[in-house]
Amino acid sequence: MTLITPLLDEEIPELAAFINECWRTTYGGFIHASFLAGLTAAEQSMRLRGQRDRGQVGVLARSDDGELVGVVTYGPTHLEVLGDAGEIGKLYVHAPLIGTGLGHRLLTIAEDALTAMGYSRIGLDVFTANQRAVDFYHAHGYVTVGRKIDHIEGHDYPLDIMAKDMPSLGSTETSSTGHTARSQRLHVPDTVDVVAH
Ligand SMILES: CC(C)(COP(=O)(O)OP(=O)(O)OC[C@H]1O[C@@H](n2cnc3c(N)ncnc32)[C@H](O)[C@@H]1OP(=O)(O)O)[C@@H](O)C(=O)NCCC(=O)NCCS
Repeated sequence: MTLITPLLDEEIPELAAFINECWRTTYGGFIHASFLAGLTAAEQSMRLRGQRDRGQVGVLARSDDGELVGVVTYGPTHLEVLGDAGEIGKLYVHAPLIGTGLGHRLLTIAEDALTAMGYSRIGLDVFTANQRAVDFYHAHGYVTVGRKIDHIEGHDYPLDIMAKDMPSLGSTETSSTGHTARSQRLHVPDTVDVVAH
């Protein structure tokens, strides 16, 4: 079983360490090693607080014993090409759980919440070399609408900017997370959600 709860400020340092571990595991094949080796939880926490201050919220997934196994953050986009779309900020699943459906579950929660916030279009950016993630988003209806380059310590890394149009919610429609559109205006699931996988 997996517990899904809204991300709290006091959980940011733990999330930062989790994201650093995911970056090292996922990006090891294509981002230079010295950057990944030098990642610190303090710097990652600063990035997360910056995202929060720009309006991103999120949910965490935890295993029965409380271990952090997944995250999705979402909110208004910072990507100019996406205009006033909503954005999936960070989506990471603990490596041993990849392919178990948790990524789909987290993405769906974020899409439902963004739709309830009134966004009719959702976008994200993903390293072009991260083929598994690009395929995952394609399978969920996202198409590449632009490209950008991240400059990291003198190296250039291309990213795909992907987006999809969402069907609008009726005023009383219930989302796949079981929350009504009204409760989702709180921007995060308002109850603990338990998912089996
Ligand atoms: C990308 C990531 C979040 C996906 O999460 P996941 O838990 O592995 O994905 P799921 O188990 O939900 O989905 C696995 C597969 O089923 C597909 N799938 C699942 N539910 C689906 C649905 N309802 N509709 C369409 N496709 C679906 C997925 O596209 C994927 O296809 P595959 O079998 O060809 O790989 C995860 O692999 C991950 O954390 N990777 C490392 C970090 C990363 O790259 N994050 C993204 C950064 S932008």
